[in-house]
Amino acid sequence: KRRTAVLISGRGSNLGALIAAARDPAYPAELALVLSNRADAAGLDRAREAGIPTATVESRPFGRDRAAFEAALGGKLAEARIEMIALAGFMRVLTEGFVTHWSGRMLNIHPSLLPAFPGLDTHARALAAGVRLHGCTVHFVTPGVDEGPIIAQSAVPVLPDDDEAALAARVLAQEHRLYPAALAWAAAGLARLEGGRVVLSMAMADGALA
Ligand code: GAR
Repeated sequence: KRRTAVLISGRGSNLGALIAAARDPAYPAELALVLSNRADAAGLDRAREAGIPTATVESRPFGRDRAAFEAALGGKLAEARIEMIALAGFMRVLTEGFVTHWSGRMLNIHPSLLPAFPGLDTHARALAAGVRLHGCTVHFVTPGVDEGPIIAQSAVPVLPDDDEAALAARVLAQEHRLYPAALAWAAAGLARLEGGRVVLSMAMADGALA
């Protein structure tokens, strides 16, 4: 099993979905560390309840010194002998050095159908743009924020009466299905980053994630 760290900043509902999936003995990733940049992240409690080791590296005291913050993160990751990283609502941008070190071994989930709506406030922006389909994306992390090669996506309809909360909830339910599957593929080597592209070596025609 690949020793995986889940990096969070807040609620941790995607973390919760990963914890549930990883309870299956056949799941190819072991959640060996939950690492937060905020001591008050609710997700830390989910991890503790599940018996997963936790660590916090407060980002605030580091100010703009992202490299020093990441050196502290790297220390925690090394201590726990981490092999893969899943960003799950981790709201700090990582430097090119850190991202390059973890190339092909770090995933992120983003609440839009990338390349539409990178960045923040994706649901409000989807509503403002009038799109009829919205959703979520799991991608390998590369230095450009929300620009990494896509592993998997899940789409939801935008309905006429949607407000931001209703749309966010519909997308979040898909995030909770998508991320455990995409992390499993990456951990098992079935989704790999090769030459800047994602290579998939499994059949995706079963509609499980359509
Ligand atoms: C999720 O919707 C995730 O896609 C998003 O933050 C939320 C975290 O929720 N991530 C980003 O916006 C990354 N820029 P969670 O803490 O309940 O998993």
